[in-house]
Amino acid sequence: MSNTLFDKTAIGSMRLKNRIFMSPMGTTGEADGAYNIDGINYFMERAKGGAGLIITGANVVSTKYEPRPCTELSDFHHVERLNMLIDRCHHYGAKVCVQLSPGLGRQQFTDPFTPPYSASDCGAFWFPDLKCKPFAMEDIHYLVSKVGYSAQLAFLAGADSVELHAYGGYLLDQFQSKQWNTRTDEYGGSLENRMRFTLECIAEIKKNIPADMPVIVKFTPVQRVQGFRDLDEGLAMAKILEDAGVDALHVDTGCYEEWYTAITTIYSKEGHKLDAQKAIKEVTSLPVLGDGKLFNPDLAKKVIADGTLDYLGMAHEMLADPYWPAKVKKGDDADIRPCVGCNECLLSGFSGKHYYCAVNPTCYAEKEYALPAARADLKRRVLVIGGGPGGMEAAITARQRGFDVDLWEKEDRLGGTLWAAGGPDFKADVLKLITYQENQCRKLGVNIELNKTATADNVKGGHYDKVILAAGSTPAVPLIPGIENAALVTDYLTHQTGAGQNVVIIGGGLGGTEAACDIAPHAGQVTILEMLPDILAAANHCLNNDQHLRAMVAERGVKVIGGARVTRITADSVTYEKDGQTETIPCDTIFNAAGFTPNDQLEDLLEGEYDDVVVIGDAVKPRKILTAVHEGYHAIRVME
Ligand SMILES: Cc1cc2nc3c(=O)[nH]c(=O)nc-3n(C[C@H](O)[C@H](O)[C@H](O)COP(=O)(O)OP(=O)(O)OC[C@H]3O[C@@H](n4cnc5c(N)ncnc54)[C@H](O)[C@@H]3O)c2cc1C
Ligand SMILES: Cc1cc2nc3c(=O)[nH]c(=O)nc-3n(C[C@H](O)[C@H](O)[C@H](O)COP(=O)(O)O)c2cc1C
Ligand code: SF4
Repeated sequence: MSNTLFDKTAIGSMRLKNRIFMSPMGTTGEADGAYNIDGINYFMERAKGGAGLIITGANVVSTKYEPRPCTELSDFHHVERLNMLIDRCHHYGAKVCVQLSPGLGRQQFTDPFTPPYSASDCGAFWFPDLKCKPFAMEDIHYLVSKVGYSAQLAFLAGADSVELHAYGGYLLDQFQSKQWNTRTDEYGGSLENRMRFTLECIAEIKKNIPADMPVIVKFTPVQRVQGFRDLDEGLAMAKILEDAGVDALHVDTGCYEEWYTAITTIYSKEGHKLDAQKAIKEVTSLPVLGDGKLFNPDLAKKVIADGTLDYLGMAHEMLADPYWPAKVKKGDDADIRPCVGCNECLLSGFSGKHYYCAVNPTCYAEKEYALPAARADLKRRVLVIGGGPGGMEAAITARQRGFDVDLWEKEDRLGGTLWAAGGPDFKADVLKLITYQENQCRKLGVNIELNKTATADNVKGGHYDKVILAAGSTPAVPLIPGIENAALVTDYLTHQTGAGQNVVIIGGGLGGTEAACDIAPHAGQVTILEMLPDILAAANHCLNNDQHLRAMVAERGVKVIGGARVTRITADSVTYEKDGQTETIPCDTIFNAAGFTPNDQLEDLLEGEYDDVVVIGDAVKPRKILTAVHEGYHAIRVME
């Protein structure tokens, strides 16, 4: 009989109620590095949602060499909060594995002034002007002892297992990788030497915890960058780790240079790490844990059934919907709130904040932002104008509070700008959010009126307690002679118009760049003309999404001309000025991707008519899914 997601299994002595784990995501905590209460509630929610195993994010074992980027487990007094976290997850039947990290090394991102430590004098990733300082032997020995102590603290806190953070180009992986480790001592040279630091950490962990407490190692057998580690070396690493007596292998791919091969983006293919995970599974007798865009329930079931993975992990989707395991178990797949791969979570984490999830406004504020219970005596009527993600979120939230909601949408379908955002095949996952939100609206009984435009006349006299203006934005039309020859890029992205063979796109923001990548495989030449020095300057998205999209621009042969001011457009040409020169590109299709202006025209009128009017999402200012969804949710949450 084949394996299933909900098999009861065990890793060593750690008995698990299913094969689903929450992948590690480092969280911030109190000023002393301990977990804070919001973090504890956040993990508890994921345990409540049904994951069999929660792997905490990285906990650094020392701050002697680098500033703390996340929680820390180095001091006896850190045990108390970790214990609260673990106990509260245990109450829901989840087991907890504590991830331990000796450091980030060249990938430390919080101090731009001090050269980080690493295996050798390689360049710092985030701060290219800084060159790393190689660790002395006694520093390595110190960190090894701290890893052991940290494991002991995890045990004291009640952890069921520990995971060593030895992957992804972080400190241990810097020692393991020949491109960053050029040492000539016993920690450099052969693979065995490069793995010595990792193996010493494993031995020290084992020395400090009971013999039957499992040790998992997260490692990266293939780095997916030319000249970096290839899979052959990765297979040898798996053997070395197995010989070191670890209990399971958590198999990853990639590194920061191509970060999207490690941390999934909207452009990633489902199961994008499965090739490496399968290869490791074939050479080891240890259980294999893996993640990498595996949140499609059918795929998740398949990779467990066919034995590719023993344990299926999810990072992003656990932020988007902590109840994925419970919903899949019940067969309620349509109720799963889908991750849209925007990486606002990662971006907020790397900007010093806690995790915000675009589609889940209560992520990391599970108690603080919970909705007040619906009360039969609290009758409220809400009008929502606009059925994009912001308007739908507001309508869903209002129904959850028991309020009556009218949702007016001027088009014949809900979804708003998400249709354009999810237009390209490589970004179709965004459309899942429309399906999800529309389902919830209908299930909860939102009174949806399609083809209904809010106007100066019909918004009057509705006796609403609150009006949400979620009317989104309209494409901006720049004052360029001949602009009427340019079609709107959103019309292309929503399949209302096609593209020819020689295409010019005016504007290299997210929409223009994604459209260019979508068109390029079917066209002779696609050129983006961007007024700023480079494309995507205003996208304000996370580095892994940025790298991924730029990789697509390069692979698909899109031509980018930055610093180009378009001065004239005709039916078959675009003229621009750059560096004092005037150039003309002959073309058969021209798209205007020059940005958006907010649809806030009804705001003053509504405020004259109703006491409580809130403008949300792109109607305030064209921004992102996160701002639209969160503003929609909170506008209703705070209603009295
Ligand atoms: C090409 C493209 C790609 C994008 N990619 C991303 C991405 O990857 N990640 C991300 O976070 N964001 C992305 N965005 C931005 C994101 O789609 C928007 O920020 C988000 O959709 C805004 O949501 P909203 O609900 O405020 O407005 P909208 O989604 O614009 O919805 C507004 C709705 O209001 C309706 N409406 C307007 N006027 C009226 C009226 N008078 N009466 C009734 N209904 C009305 C409209 O028809 C529309 O359905 C992208 C945008 C574009 C254009
Ligand atoms: C916000 C965020 C933080 C992460 N932090 C860690 C971490 O602390 N330790 C770790 O091993 N992996 C970390 N990861 C990587 C994830 O564990 C996982 O390998 C990756 O996101 C791919 O899984 P997914 O496609 O299910 O998101 C992080 C990922 C995200 C999105
Ligand atoms: S912020 Fe975006 S990428 Fe991160 S979990 Fe939420 S939806 Fe997914």
